[in-house]
Amino acid sequence: MKSNSLVIQPFRSAARGLAQVPGSKSITNRALILAALADGETLLTGALFSRDTRILIAALQALGFTVLADESAHTIKVHGLGGKIPQASAKIHVGNAGTAARFLTAFLALAPQGRYELDGDEAMRARPMAGLLTALRDAGCQALKPDGSPATHFPFTLHTTGKLGALKVDASASSQLLSALLMVLPLSNGASVKLDGATVSEPFVDMTVKMCAQFGRPLSKNAEGAWRCSQPGAYKATSTYVIEPDATAASYFIALGAVAGADSRIRLRHYSAEGLQGDTAFAPVAAQCGAVLESAPDALLVKSWRKIGGGDFDFNAFSDTFLTLATLAGLADSPVKICGIGHTRKQETDRVLAMATELTRLGIRVEPTVAQLQADDSLSSLKIYPDREALRQKAAHGPVSIHTYEDHRMAMSFGILGSYDLFGDGRPWISIEDPGCTSKTFPTFFTALAAQKSKFVTITIDGGAASGKSSTSRLLAERQGLLHVDTGLHYRSLTHALLQAGARVDQVSLVESLLQKISLGSQIIGQSSRLTLGGKIPDEAALRTPEVNAAVSQFAALPAVRNCLLHYQRSQVALAQNAGFAGIVMEGRDIGSVVLPQAEVRIFLEASPEARTQRRAAEGQADAVAQRDHLDSTRKMAPLICPPGATRIDNTTLSLNEVVQQISALVHTAAR
Ligand code: DC
Repeated sequence: MKSNSLVIQPFRSAARGLAQVPGSKSITNRALILAALADGETLLTGALFSRDTRILIAALQALGFTVLADESAHTIKVHGLGGKIPQASAKIHVGNAGTAARFLTAFLALAPQGRYELDGDEAMRARPMAGLLTALRDAGCQALKPDGSPATHFPFTLHTTGKLGALKVDASASSQLLSALLMVLPLSNGASVKLDGATVSEPFVDMTVKMCAQFGRPLSKNAEGAWRCSQPGAYKATSTYVIEPDATAASYFIALGAVAGADSRIRLRHYSAEGLQGDTAFAPVAAQCGAVLESAPDALLVKSWRKIGGGDFDFNAFSDTFLTLATLAGLADSPVKICGIGHTRKQETDRVLAMATELTRLGIRVEPTVAQLQADDSLSSLKIYPDREALRQKAAHGPVSIHTYEDHRMAMSFGILGSYDLFGDGRPWISIEDPGCTSKTFPTFFTALAAQKSKFVTITIDGGAASGKSSTSRLLAERQGLLHVDTGLHYRSLTHALLQAGARVDQVSLVESLLQKISLGSQIIGQSSRLTLGGKIPDEAALRTPEVNAAVSQFAALPAVRNCLLHYQRSQVALAQNAGFAGIVMEGRDIGSVVLPQAEVRIFLEASPEARTQRRAAEGQADAVAQRDHLDSTRKMAPLICPPGATRIDNTTLSLNEVVQQISALVHTAAR
C-alpha cells in the first residue's frame, strides 16, 4: 500500500450529527462583492475559507475596505461603502482565483478615476478575460499591457472612469465574465449588459441574479435580451447573510445515508432544495434511488436510504455530483446508467475514464469499458453493473487502493463507498491514495466524515441567573453541532401564559386546570429547540418583561408547573436524535440533578454576584438576580444546586471562548 494513502474505516453504526460541509465558494465570493457594494455592514455566516476566498478578502482590504474575517467562526464582516472604492490606485494579485479575477475587474470599473495594477498566477494569465476587458473598453475603461497596448489577459493596468453605459459581453468562454458585470450594473445609472455570443452556464448566471435580488437590487432582462436594474443604487446591507453549504460537498453526506447503519440521521444545515446552486439537483436523484430525505426549516435531514435503486440518470446540468452516485452504483440493486457527462472528461482529470478504471479495479463491470473509453474520447456516459460479491472477492486480502488522479471528487466519492461495511465485520476494504487532494474544496472532508461516527452526547449546564448559561450553551451548540434547549424559556413561557390567563401563584388549582389545557410542542430554529404553546413560539420579548422576571421563580416552584415540564424536557433528547444533531445541550437550574441526571457531561456555571449583576445591567434588564437565585435554590422541588459529580466552572474572569473550549474537551472525550 502507498504511504500517502488513507484506509477508510467502514461505519459499523448509524451516521449522526450535523454534516460539517463548507460554504459554497461561488456564493462566498459573490456575497463579498455585493456586501462591499452595499450601504453598510453585512455579516456573512457559513463562509468558505479557501485560497480563492482569501484572495478576494485580501484584495478588498487592499482597496481600503474593512473586512473582518473569523475563520474559526466561518464569518466575514464586510463594511460596504455603497459603490465607493476608497483607494483610487492599488496593486492586486488574484492568484489563480477565477471569480476574484473577474469580479474584481468589473468592480474596480466603478471607481471614477482609478488606476489599478492587476496580475495573476501563470495559469490565470492564460485564462479568458478578453470578453470582460473588451466590454469595459466600450465603457471608456482601459486595460493596458505593460507596453501600453490593449490587454486581453492578465497582467494589465486598469484605468477606470466609473461609468458603465450599455455594455455587450462575449461570455462564451466563462459565465463569470457576465456575472462580474451583472453585479456592478445597479451601481451605475442607466447601465445595461447584453450577451454577445453563445449562451453560458445558466445555473451560475441565475445564482448571480438571485443574489443581486437578495441584496435588494433585482435585475431584469428586457425584450432585446439586455440585463438592467430598474431601480439602480447601492445594494442594501443585510445584517446577516447566510451562505449556503456547498451543494456538491453536501452530496457526499446525502450518499452517506445509503452506506452507514440503519437509523442514520445526518443534518445538512442551511441546505435548501430551492437554494442558489445547481448541484442541489442531486438530492431529487438520490431520492429517486431510495434516499429518505426530509426537509426541515433551514435544513435537510438525510436518513438511511430505503434501498439503492438503479436507473438511467442525466447528470449534464449537475455533473460534479455524478461521481457520488457512480460509486454507490457498485452497491445498487440494479444497473445505474449515467449520461450527459462527456464534458467532465476534460476536468481535473478525465473523470469518466478515472471512474471506470477505479470501479473496474474493484471488480465492478462498466460500459463502455476502460479500453473503449481510452480509444474514444467522445463517449459520454457510463453504465455500472452492481456486484457486491465481486467487491468482496477483490477486497478479500485487504483494502483495494483507489487512485485519485489529483481529483478531489474521486477521493471523496470513494471515501463514501469505503464507509460501507461490506463484510459486515467492520473490516476496511478501500484505501484512498493522496487523500490530501480534497483540499481543493473540502480540506477537512475525512475528518468531517469521521465526525459522523461520534456518539450522541448529552450535556447539562446549570447555574444561577446571569451565570452565562445561555451564551455558553449557544456557542457550544454551534461549535459542536448540538441541539440547544433553554429551559428557562420553558418556565418563562408558562409563567407568561398563566399571567395572561389571570392566574396568581397562590391559586394552585386554577394553575393546575390551566396547565391541563395547554398544549406543548417544539420547533427547531437553527440550533435551538423552542417551546411552542398551541403551536406558536411565544414572543421572546414578552417572556423577558419585568412582570415575568418577577413572577417566574415563584411559578417555577409549583410542583404542577415542574411536573408539566419534566416529561417535555426529557423528550427533547429523542427530538435531537431524530433531527440528526450530534448531541444536546440543555441549560437550566435542575437539568443535571433532576431532568437528565445520566448526562455524560454535567456543568455547573458560577460567577461572582457583582459580575452577574453587571451582565444583566449590560443587557438592559431589570432583574433581581440574587432574589431569584434565593427562591430557586430554596424551593422544595428540584432546587438549584450543583449536581453531584458535576464540573464546576467559575467564569468570572474567563472569556466565553475559554469556557466553551473547556466544555468542548469534555464533550470530545464523552463522544468517543
Ligand atoms: O434561565 P432563566 O433566567 O431564563 O430562568 C428563569 C426562571 O425559570 C428561573 O429563575 C427559575 C426557572 N427555572 C427553573 O426553575 N428550572 C430550570 N431548569 C430553568 C429555569
